[in-house]
Amino acid sequence: MEMQKRTPRGQRVVLVPTPCQEHINPMLQLGTFLHSKGFSITIIHTHFNSPSPSNHPEFTFIPIQDCLTVPLVSSGNIIAILLALNANCKASFEQCLTTQVMKQEPEKITCIYDEFMYFSEAAANYLNIPSIILRTTSAANFHGRSTVVELHSKGHIPFPGMCHTWVPSISFIIARKYTQKMLKLSGRVYIYIFYFPCHRVYVIGAGAPTSSPQIQGSAHLSSNKISFLNKNLFCDLFHLFHDRNGGGGGGEYMLHHDFESPWDTLENFLKLVVKSHDVGRSSAIICKTIDCLDQSSLARIQKHCQVPIFCIGPLLKITTAASSSLLEEDTSCIEWLDKQSHKSVIYVSLGSIASIGEKELAEMAWGLANSKQPFLWVIRPGSITGSDWIELLPQEFREAIGERGFIVKWAPQREVLAHGAVGAFWTHCGWNSTLESISEGVPMICKPCFSDQKVHARYVSKVWRLGLELEDEFERGEIERAVRKLMVNSDGEEIRARAKDMKEKIQVSMSKGGSNYKRKSELVEFIMAF
Ligand code: UDX
Repeated sequence: MEMQKRTPRGQRVVLVPTPCQEHINPMLQLGTFLHSKGFSITIIHTHFNSPSPSNHPEFTFIPIQDCLTVPLVSSGNIIAILLALNANCKASFEQCLTTQVMKQEPEKITCIYDEFMYFSEAAANYLNIPSIILRTTSAANFHGRSTVVELHSKGHIPFPGMCHTWVPSISFIIARKYTQKMLKLSGRVYIYIFYFPCHRVYVIGAGAPTSSPQIQGSAHLSSNKISFLNKNLFCDLFHLFHDRNGGGGGGEYMLHHDFESPWDTLENFLKLVVKSHDVGRSSAIICKTIDCLDQSSLARIQKHCQVPIFCIGPLLKITTAASSSLLEEDTSCIEWLDKQSHKSVIYVSLGSIASIGEKELAEMAWGLANSKQPFLWVIRPGSITGSDWIELLPQEFREAIGERGFIVKWAPQREVLAHGAVGAFWTHCGWNSTLESISEGVPMICKPCFSDQKVHARYVSKVWRLGLELEDEFERGEIERAVRKLMVNSDGEEIRARAKDMKEKIQVSMSKGGSNYKRKSELVEFIMAF
């Protein structure tokens, strides 16, 4: 007798995206996937950066009051905005659920909220609606952020009067310039500290001595550079790293000491991270990553997590969701790409937030021009400090490149990366861009700007080895060499081959019978069981 397949008809999923491009995309892609499985979808969103309903006629969109003030929105301080949303939106969200979703829909409801919209969990819990968290960053980055939470719970951070942020990394990151110190704790157990002047970063690791190159140097940190880390903190850090690494191996984190960040921003950052790590009564976590990439970090997270984690892969691969772009995509670049040779074009984009100055712009421009490769360059309006768009591009550069370069304000990135003419991606390593590139087998030139981008750049270049990281400040010679190595020269062949292999691995994992395919089916079953 044939088994009757259960379907989720009559079940509604309420999605609550964080109102930023990089969070809206994965949430709407998840909605498209769940809709394809039979769930009805409602998007409850803020007025601030609201998604466009016309791109998704199959969803119900409901805006809620966010009470953001004009000065706050124009400050562009995204962390302060997210904290304000969490303070302001709980009541309006609760009211929206009660009056507009629950009353009119006799269906079973599940709430899936972005980790930074944690007010949703409290409201859903109050109304007895099951909830699930969507995390849109890499497992590697999330694993590092967990350290922040742990240190915060022990009272080690914030350090009064100091400016710190924490980002994760790996023990074998190798920077060109570093100094290093080893502190012997006991027996053969050491704590390593590496200082990377170019990134203003301390790397701290713990474990037994190894022969890896990064600890062979003999230079020492001057004591004033580490004076804020007292011995007790070291011991706690050691236990933390030691436990996390299963009692052996090198340490795993880097302490990013940023002297330029204002203290209140960092305090706000800590508040946001700490609160967003509280799963409350949520029943599960959905991670937007893929096991063949992020396996070791995923395993560590699951070890410390009480609820199931559904790693469902790059969501763009599970759906052909309509564009959820907040900016208008210039599709003329696809016609331009159609005229270029196979894998000849370098696509350049620094994402939706990062900006650069005039000097960096000129170095980028001349690096690209001198590489002699055709390029498609996204320059977001306002992303060049001191100008509206491309006014500061040198005139000689424009004349030198002629038809070889194409500049747009915003591109249909997923389509661009899937285009046969694109042979490499110069990226800031935002997680969406990184995954989109890896999924299409496009090798990367990484120039991270801040936070998790630095982590992803290191993983791309040193762990997954799917690209190169530009180590110095923007410098035209280094840019030219990197482009030619990645796209033309024989010494870039291995990277190009690995990128192609990883695309195939991802395709296997995402197709029927693959591990990510199974996790998606399990997620659907999990929601249906509520
Ligand atoms: C931000 C943070 O800067 C980053 O650290 C974090 O990992 C994610 O959020 P963002 O600049 O938005 O990153 O980059 P990313 O995560 O790569 O997301 C950008 C999205 O915009 C991608 O989905 C990309 O396809 C899309 N995009 C980008 C376009 O559609 N067109 C473009 O021209 C550029």
